[in-house]
Amino acid sequence: MEVVPLDTVEEVARLAADVIEAAVRARPDSAVLGLATGSTPLPAYRELIRRHAARSAPSYDAVRCFTLDEYVGLPAGHPQSYRVTIARELTDPLGIPPDRVHSPDPSPAGLASAGERYEADLVAAGGIDVQILGIGGDGHLAFNEPGSSLASLTRIKTLTEQTRRDNARFFPSLADVPRHVLTQGLGTILRARHLLLLATGAGKAAALAAAVEGPLCAACPASVLQLHPHVTVLADGPAAAGLSRREHYREVYDAKPAWQGL
Ligand code: PGA
Repeated sequence: MEVVPLDTVEEVARLAADVIEAAVRARPDSAVLGLATGSTPLPAYRELIRRHAARSAPSYDAVRCFTLDEYVGLPAGHPQSYRVTIARELTDPLGIPPDRVHSPDPSPAGLASAGERYEADLVAAGGIDVQILGIGGDGHLAFNEPGSSLASLTRIKTLTEQTRRDNARFFPSLADVPRHVLTQGLGTILRARHLLLLATGAGKAAALAAAVEGPLCAACPASVLQLHPHVTVLADGPAAAGLSRREHYREVYDAKPAWQGL
């Protein structure tokens, strides 16, 4: 796992955008991006959009995208559904059409098979090149709450009250936050070729330390990252504050050979 302690949210956004653009440049005809919603990736998404508008970005003409998760129970087209959110925050501004942006299908009639169908879509696309991830204050990854199987695949999950409260800021009231979601499993996430975890703000410090330096356990779902061969963690100063080996991680990053990307 490569942990890169940075100072600011802006640095996290710039490096994250570099990693995503490098993945698109590496496979211009077939790149597959795994997208996360939530507040953390937004500065990186804005940076990608800024570069695209400035015509310094790679072409997104052939890029396909898969979201990590989706709420169950919102009407189709609801502004807080993750399908609509990711279109608004990233894929529409990058000119990636909706038919190349996939998300788990929360329509009531197909819920029982939605996970299996999403897994099949991921396999058919050739898997994800780079998966962007945030981390919950409780260590959740996508909507895999504490206790989730480390081998889980896409399926329906029930949110914890804490996560519903955390997400209530996007809804008129707590009662409007759905209880159920479809989420890629931890085993699904492990299949992506490169995992890019972004963590910003003091509220993530304890969860990040547990994920990176604590034991591998379902009580901290993000600790499953320890099993993956290619993980990059970009953290700002407050989020990195709980890492006991923070200075060493920074030394490793500063001493990286110029030829070795993230
Ligand atoms: P946030 O959510 O980026 O809005 O903090 C992260 C998460 O819950 O996974």
